[in-house]
Amino acid sequence: MDPKDWIDITEESFNYKLEHFNIPMHYQEDVSSILIPHGLILDRIEKLAKMIISQYNDRLVVCCVLKGGHQFFADLVNFLKNFTNKEGKNLPIALDFIRVKSYENESSTGTVNISMTEKELAGLKGKDVLIVEDIIDTGRTMVALLEHLKSYELKSVKVASLFIKKTPLSNGFIPDYVGFSVPNLFIVGYCLDYNDHFRDLNHVCAISETGRIKYMNES
Ligand code: HPA
Ligand code: MG
Repeated sequence: MDPKDWIDITEESFNYKLEHFNIPMHYQEDVSSILIPHGLILDRIEKLAKMIISQYNDRLVVCCVLKGGHQFFADLVNFLKNFTNKEGKNLPIALDFIRVKSYENESSTGTVNISMTEKELAGLKGKDVLIVEDIIDTGRTMVALLEHLKSYELKSVKVASLFIKKTPLSNGFIPDYVGFSVPNLFIVGYCLDYNDHFRDLNHVCAISETGRIKYMNES
């Protein structure tokens, strides 16, 4: 996707006050600002779904990258079911799940662990697959996953990521569909986590120093 086709979130322009939205009590101290309110996220996903459906004409396998991609995946699939393609057809959608883990605290550990059996991967042969990810940061996880999928002869593979981070550490990977680009901050909420915390926060927020320390992993 061309950068002009996604929403660019900057620290200056999108910085909502916490008191203007509902934040669960248990996270009040742990986030410093709201970058993207939940409603805006949903509106954007609706548009992505419409674009995606218009570019397929056959059964689509939507593959969720767990755990972070789960909320985006759930909302995206709901919208995908409601839109029709260029020929006015609803498309059959199959759901698949893959667990990929590479983050500890705020950094990529460098090792990408992919949990799909040979049999499951072989089952993707000849299919149109859409991989659904929460965020592209360095891009390493996604490039490793796509490399891994190469030998399984999928009919097509595309990537939808709700966020892409503007980081100098990027390897240049750009997904086929992007919701928002976000500043080079560690963000949480809408299923994006910090050591498995904050997935239950609806809005996408910047983590505060208090939150960073409270939920830091020791090891
Ligand atoms: N937040 C949560 N998970 C992530 C991020 C982030 O900013 N970047 C990569 N994984
Ligand atoms: Mg992730």
